[in-house]
Amino acid sequence: MSASRGKFNSRIGFILAAAGSAVGLGNIWGFPTQAAGNGGAAFVLMYLILAFCLAYPAFMAELIIGRHGQSNAVESLRKISTSKSQKHFAFIVGFGGIVCAALIMSFYAIVAGWMLAFTAEPITTAIGATQTSLWLTEQSLSRNLIFTSIFTILTIFIISRGVENGIEKWSKRLMPALVAILVSLTIYVLTLDGAVDGLKAYLIPDFSLLFKPSLVVSALGQAFFSLSLGTSVIIIYGSYVSKNENLVTLGVSVTLIDVFIAFLAGLLIVPAMYVAAAKGVQIFDANGALISGDTLVFTVLPALFDGMGSVGIFVSLSFFSLMSIASLTSSISMLEAPVSYTVERFNISRNKATLIIGLIIFTVSSIIIFNFSALFGFVIALTTQYGQPIIGMFCCIFVGWIWHRSSLLEELKSGNDNIENQLFWKIWPWYTKLVCPLAIGLVFIHSVAS
Ligand code: TRP
Repeated sequence: MSASRGKFNSRIGFILAAAGSAVGLGNIWGFPTQAAGNGGAAFVLMYLILAFCLAYPAFMAELIIGRHGQSNAVESLRKISTSKSQKHFAFIVGFGGIVCAALIMSFYAIVAGWMLAFTAEPITTAIGATQTSLWLTEQSLSRNLIFTSIFTILTIFIISRGVENGIEKWSKRLMPALVAILVSLTIYVLTLDGAVDGLKAYLIPDFSLLFKPSLVVSALGQAFFSLSLGTSVIIIYGSYVSKNENLVTLGVSVTLIDVFIAFLAGLLIVPAMYVAAAKGVQIFDANGALISGDTLVFTVLPALFDGMGSVGIFVSLSFFSLMSIASLTSSISMLEAPVSYTVERFNISRNKATLIIGLIIFTVSSIIIFNFSALFGFVIALTTQYGQPIIGMFCCIFVGWIWHRSSLLEELKSGNDNIENQLFWKIWPWYTKLVCPLAIGLVFIHSVAS
């Protein structure tokens, strides 16, 4: 099996592919939406704390499990289990993660479809097809079905071609362009009237909101979603990392890139909302809180681009096309989770597995589209706020309580001889064993209790 397994060809290839998985709608759609909906800066602060203190250690746990296992999530978790009950547990956690990834893909494809539609809109506007432009930018069954299916087909196409040809190549091209456009847009927004108020709302926290249960749960879910945790995806990516790589620095790089881009996106969107407010757009609800919702980014940004005059069309086109590509480098990681399991478990061809699973996911997306108000938010909360943190917590339990310490150390030593003397090895093992599961558990008890 190992001969046919994909491998990332280079260190930067892995960083970009994992960062490509991490950076996506979660950063540029999810994070600003959540920040606006949860009191701005307080959410940002809690997010940063949880991303570094809980999501990063869990990311490392999954990465190490994957590289050690050299297989899909179920097999990799089984490899570190010894007793029969542990092996059952491994199946539940690994398979649960795979199902979670597939469910995430089903709503992700819908939002990514919106990105595709908004990419097409500047073109239809430029050629004067006003009706089409309206159809592209307004919620409708037909638009959602068509663009969700286009996005799903694109993902299937890339995944069917495998790791080297698909994931790595695509990821390498995107990240620098995305950062460049985000930075330029942010600088532009900050020069506009009203932006300073937005900056304050984004950066100066109201500490009384910090421990609000709904805020903490949202921030935790957002951090896990953004790093693609608790879905077996990082385990699989870990299995494609060469034994010569230093996992600790890889993990740090990916986390930093991911958090940085989310922070940057918020720095763009929240001030842009206040700029819109200065122009008379309603951005606060009756209670004085910022209006938020799934389509926030799709109203604030086009309004901003419109205000730029004719340049706006190009900016809009490049922004939404980059976002569509960023969504693709994320969705391919989601689809890779069930596909690699099916290929290795049932021994069927990669093409066939990709097609079957892609179709199943598209069916679920369609069910969500037809029952949008009942299902969309529900599936997001179920997978990102509950599924991901809980499965991520189980991965920490695997590393902390089930995996033999000597074998864990050996895996970490590969690519990093000196690990025993580093701070990481002095803190991370007990931290993952005790603090992560406890803290994640506490967040849930806290939220259920209130
Ligand atoms: N992290 C991605 C984002 O922020 C989403 C994502 C990609 C993901 N792959 C995943 C989420 C796997 C869960 C599981 O857009």
